[in-house]
Amino acid sequence: MRKPIIAGNWKMYKTITQAIELANGLKRAFFEIDASSIDIVLCPVYTSLSEVAEVIADSNIKLGAQDVYWQDEGAFTGEVSPVMLKDAGCGYVIIGHSERRQYFNETNETVNKKVKAAVKHGLVPIVCVGETLEQREAGKTFDVLKDHISGGLAGLTEDEVSKLVIAYEPVWAIGTGKTATSAQAQEAHKYIRDLAAALYTKDVAGGMRIQYGGSVKPENAAEIMQQPDVDGALVGGASLKADSFSEIVNRGLKAKVKK
Ligand code: PGA
Repeated sequence: MRKPIIAGNWKMYKTITQAIELANGLKRAFFEIDASSIDIVLCPVYTSLSEVAEVIADSNIKLGAQDVYWQDEGAFTGEVSPVMLKDAGCGYVIIGHSERRQYFNETNETVNKKVKAAVKHGLVPIVCVGETLEQREAGKTFDVLKDHISGGLAGLTEDEVSKLVIAYEPVWAIGTGKTATSAQAQEAHKYIRDLAAALYTKDVAGGMRIQYGGSVKPENAAEIMQQPDVDGALVGGASLKADSFSEIVNRGLKAKVKK
């Protein structure tokens, strides 16, 4: 049984005060949820990491960052290392989000370096993969997924791959209000799992947690997470409010537990 994982990607939203307020609201909302049944992860901006870590320290919520650099330290102005993320209280880090690929020149090569650095330091990478609308319409969805996975995870051992999380995020569904249908999500997730079986082992593939991301909201969370190969969600917009994110977690949990 794969443990579901739902993460909130706060993107470039929330000042420190606002982040503390949201984290407190979520801590209250989730206090009855058993941490052994689901991983709930909050990914605020760097400036709020340690404050949010303090708020959730005695809770069942975990902390993640939205990016990382691959060196431990050095003259790399503006970057933050895995050592520093651990120091701030992170257990997870999002890597290769499509917004980083689109606006900040993230490539499979940089994703790969970041993933290796994260696992080396015991951070769980949430590796984002997914096609644009143009690529989907050209029938290239699976090619893109294969390229992102084989490039982003190149050179990792089976053991390392078994620890990471993949987020399938069709770019056309991110922040657009257009969600992939549950059938489209399941098809892509199954492709990723089959690919992992071919690249690694059946066991690695069977244990791999694959989140869906792209306009997940309370109304569609259950249907998407009921799909057999969908193990959770990476939530952007709807993670910025305590009531919508907690509703997504509650519905996701029910959808996964019922199975
Ligand atoms: P969205 O973002 O839920 O706002 O579509 C998801 C993401 O980018 O991770």
